[in-house]
Amino acid sequence: MKKVAIFASGNGSNFQAITDAVHNQKLHIHISCVICDRPGAFVLERAKKENIPVFLINPKSYPSKIAYESAILEKLQAFQIDFIALAGYMRLIGPTILNSYERKIVNIHPSLLPAFPGLDAIGQSLKAGVKETGVTIHYVDEGMDTGQVIAQQTVEIAEGETKESLQKKIQVIEHQLYPETLEKLLNS
Ligand code: GRF
Repeated sequence: MKKVAIFASGNGSNFQAITDAVHNQKLHIHISCVICDRPGAFVLERAKKENIPVFLINPKSYPSKIAYESAILEKLQAFQIDFIALAGYMRLIGPTILNSYERKIVNIHPSLLPAFPGLDAIGQSLKAGVKETGVTIHYVDEGMDTGQVIAQQTVEIAEGETKESLQKKIQVIEHQLYPETLEKLLNS
């Protein structure tokens, strides 16, 4: 089984969906560790509850991005990680990690890329007044949500849709699409 690291900065509902899919034998990977960059993030609690090694690596404790990412890389190498899934990790991956994991890092983004990359994709889509948005899973390159698309699913935006209601709809899709896509990518 592929050894996977999950990177997250916040709530970690996608981490949970991936973990649940492993428990339910819908996804055949080994979640070896979680890397989190934000003190207090709820994903830290979730990982502990699942007994998955979790490392809070705070960029503020390092003099540079290279030093920060080298500390992460050390963990990835210690766990012999094959593949990285970003799940709400709120920073760009730099060359230190990218060079060691070329085409072995994927991300999930709450829009139909290339529409609405970057922060607050859900707010951006509502402001733009589009009738539909969605979820994208893509390879990670040095850009902001610019890597090759692997899977996409559309979500309709209803009349009077709020950010909260749209986010809920998008997350339902995310929680199903991410485990499914990882299984296809890593086991077929
Ligand atoms: C998701 O909507 C994902 O698309 C985006 O960040 C959010 C993370 O949510 N990249 P969670 O922390 O997995 O609940």
